[in-house]
Amino acid sequence: GKHYDYLLVGGGLFNGIIAHEAGKQGKSCLVVEKRSVLGGNIHCREVEGIMVHEYGAHIFHTSNREVWDYVSGLVEFNHYINSPVANYHGEIYNLPFNMNTFSKMWGIRTPQEAREIIESQRKVVSGEPKNLEEQAISQVGTDVYEKLVKGYTMKQWGRECKDLPASIIKRLPVRYIYDNNYFNDPYQGIPKGGYNGLIEKLYDGCDVILDTDYLEEKEELSGMADQVIYTGTIDSYFDYCYGKLEYRTLRFEHELLNESNHQGVAVMNYTDGETPYTRKIEHKHFDFGTQEKTVVSKEYPAEWTDGMEPYYPVNDEKNSALYARYQELGEKEEKVFFGGRLGEYKYYDMDKVIESALKFWREKLQDKEKQD
Ligand code: FDA
Repeated sequence: GKHYDYLLVGGGLFNGIIAHEAGKQGKSCLVVEKRSVLGGNIHCREVEGIMVHEYGAHIFHTSNREVWDYVSGLVEFNHYINSPVANYHGEIYNLPFNMNTFSKMWGIRTPQEAREIIESQRKVVSGEPKNLEEQAISQVGTDVYEKLVKGYTMKQWGRECKDLPASIIKRLPVRYIYDNNYFNDPYQGIPKGGYNGLIEKLYDGCDVILDTDYLEEKEELSGMADQVIYTGTIDSYFDYCYGKLEYRTLRFEHELLNESNHQGVAVMNYTDGETPYTRKIEHKHFDFGTQEKTVVSKEYPAEWTDGMEPYYPVNDEKNSALYARYQELGEKEEKVFFGGRLGEYKYYDMDKVIESALKFWREKLQDKEKQD
């Protein structure tokens, strides 16, 4: 059979960048993906003309000009700016916490008034915050904590804020300007028509095998290429020889509704403690859609067990130490490299994955070619 320069295990964003760079250098790639579509977690499924972010809402934002030029050179981005709203028992507040939020909450107008209220409420906590509740109140005061932080955080972690360590919350951003733009990055948007066009461009020219788990045909597939770039979970590659890494996951309930505009915003956070889901996403608003129907997805935090999608690594001491042992094994592999959010057991935003893949290509693969 045909022999390839690279076998790319996993058809997500990380390997998409490798495929694209390899293609530019005239190198050949074979992609093996266990799902029935390429794209990894940025894949969008089309329903009634609406691009549904099936594996979680994806908003592209970056401060890295090179990364922005790279992706926007491949596909056109729209002017979507993430401005989620919070729903607390039917009361609507703008996020992130800013003058629009404070004005609605307290009927005030000036930054001075907002500062005074928050300052007086922060004083409730004296000394070092002993848990997440105290940490949050010491930063944003009691009202914002009670209505916008408490229930949401409790649902996310499955425990009361009083029983969570203060360290989970580093800094809750508070803005004393009227500004609902969630991100501070200068570049932001969503590819027009969703992410699938980007994925198609990145993997253009590659041979692709779908619905195939590399680990079940490891020897045979690896034999087809000079080098293997593996973006699956690193512990599964080594047959869990040191034990299993842990993940946090989410469960999505997607619904097609017979109305054109359900909630008027792409992202609505449910910040009360009673609504069982944390967020409701209305996908058409990511793309300024005008379709007759709409698709909404409720997001439920869930305990991760075998067979579920591993979404977020749990970078606590135990899991970090376990990952370090797998990483050591990984470095001993001669022709296999590990990359991406599962291969490196690291939470990466899309722009950081692109940065990391470009760096990896330049340092590990491109240089190796030069040495040969
Ligand atoms: P990714 O997981 O996408 O791809 C890995 C691929 O490998 C998968 O397709 C998998 O099926 C395949 N695979 C695994 N094992 C295999 C095997 N044994 N054989 C064959 N194939 C195998 N970022 C951002 O910038 N803005 C945002 O708004 C969000 N939102 C967001 C929401 C949620 C819920 C999550 C989990 C993540 C985000 N992200 C994000 C992060 C973003 O999803 C992430 O940066 C990239 O998708 C990571 O791309 P990778 O290629 O590393 O992994």
